Formats: sequence, C-alpha cells, structure tokens
Amino acid sequence: MKKLAYPQAGVASTCRSFEEYERMFGIDAGQLSGQKVLDVAGGASSFTAALCARGIDAYAADPFYAGSREEVIAAAEREIDTSSAKLAAMAHIYDWSYYGSPERHRRLREASHAMFAGHFRSAEGGGRYMAAGLPDLPFEDGTFGLAVCSHFLFLYAEQFGEAFHAAALRELLRVTRPGGEVRIYPLVTLSWEPGPAAGRTGG
Ligand SMILES: C[S@@+](CC[C@H](N)C(=O)[O-])C[C@H]1O[C@@H](n2cnc3c(N)ncnc32)[C@H](O)[C@@H]1O
Repeated sequence: MKKLAYPQAGVASTCRSFEEYERMFGIDAGQLSGQKVLDVAGGASSFTAALCARGIDAYAADPFYAGSREEVIAAAEREIDTSSAKLAAMAHIYDWSYYGSPERHRRLREASHAMFAGHFRSAEGGGRYMAAGLPDLPFEDGTFGLAVCSHFLFLYAEQFGEAFHAAALRELLRVTRPGGEVRIYPLVTLSWEPGPAAGRTGG
C-alpha cells in the first residue's frame, strides 16, 4: 500500500502565525520579556514580527531571506496557493478542529503573511531576518534564551539525514544560553513517522 504523505518537493517556505507558534511551543510571550528569541527556519512566519510588536528582542534565520525582499514576500505568497491546493485535495485526512476549515486555514495564513511582509519590509524589522541556515548560524555562543524551529527539522527527513540533524541540534544548543531552551516541532516526517534521531535526542 502506498504510504500516506504530504506531497512536497524541496522545502516549502510557509507562514505560520504567532498563535500557531504559541500552541506548538507552549509559549507564553509574557515570560519572554528581557530574553533574546530566535526562530530558525522562520520562513514567512509572523512569529518574529508579533514578538517584536510585544517589545521582545526577536530574530529569525532562514536561507530563504537571501535575495530581494519583495521576491521573498512574493514566493511566500505563492506558497499559500500551493499549500492550500494540496490541503484541499487531502482535506478528508486532516483534523480541522483548530483551523475550522481549509478556507479559514488559508485566511489565517494570508493574515500571517501580511504581518510578516510588513515587518520584513520595514527598516527596523528587516534587519532581524538573517539569511542563514542550519547547521551554521551567524550568532555568538549563548545568545538566545529561546530558540524555536517549526516545520523544518525532522519533517524533511528524506532530504536531510541523521548527520545533518545531529549537527543542527548541536548548533541550536550552541546559540542558546545555559538554562535557555530549544523547542522543535514537529518531531515527525512528512509521512507522520518519527524523524531522524528523534528517539535518541530525547524527543
Ligand atoms: C516549512 S517552512 C517553515 C516556516 C515557518 N517556520 C513555519 O512554520 O511556517 C521550512 C523553512 O525551512 C527553511 N530551510 C531550508 N533549509 C534550511 C536550513 N539549512 N536551515 C534553516 N532553515 C532552512 C526553508 O527555507 C523554509 O523557509
């Protein structure tokens, strides 16, 4: 029987919202005050923009940020079309209790993308998005109190093997201060199986 999987070639640059990050990572923004926060593989998420709007010193890193800002914004907008079409075709296998419907999912992504675009284009916000990727981040040791990574590590197991994941996890720990936290979601692949090394890294 053919394995069920979300159909994906390459790595998509999606735009999850601050509210999605809150739920994925159990984040209470009130407790982040005074800390530096990093969103690795941030894509076009509005997480960094929303944290900055709350006065938190937040940054994002992703190779996707290389090149013209308008092209980055347009590419992320095109991904909303692409992913919405894929989800519509697979709608029957998903639990819609959080999003409500594929249509509402799309509207939430559009709102998140608009927030990202406004921040990414701005003079103050734009400098917070670093064109850089795992396993080499351009930050000093122990810079961040919290580093998150949504929908990159473990998910793309077929493209990034165990050695990459081990190096990426070490790099996330390196840029996080002692006593800080690294949070990663999900720990499964695009076919909902445990990602490389997920069991051995303590989940
Ligand atoms: C599915 S998106 C996730 C975006 C966002 N975190 C979210 O949840 O909506 C995956 C992101 O991983 C980024 N990526 C690809 N290779 C990477 C690497 N080596 N290090 C960090 N990010 C990478 C892609 O550019 C893409 O933006």
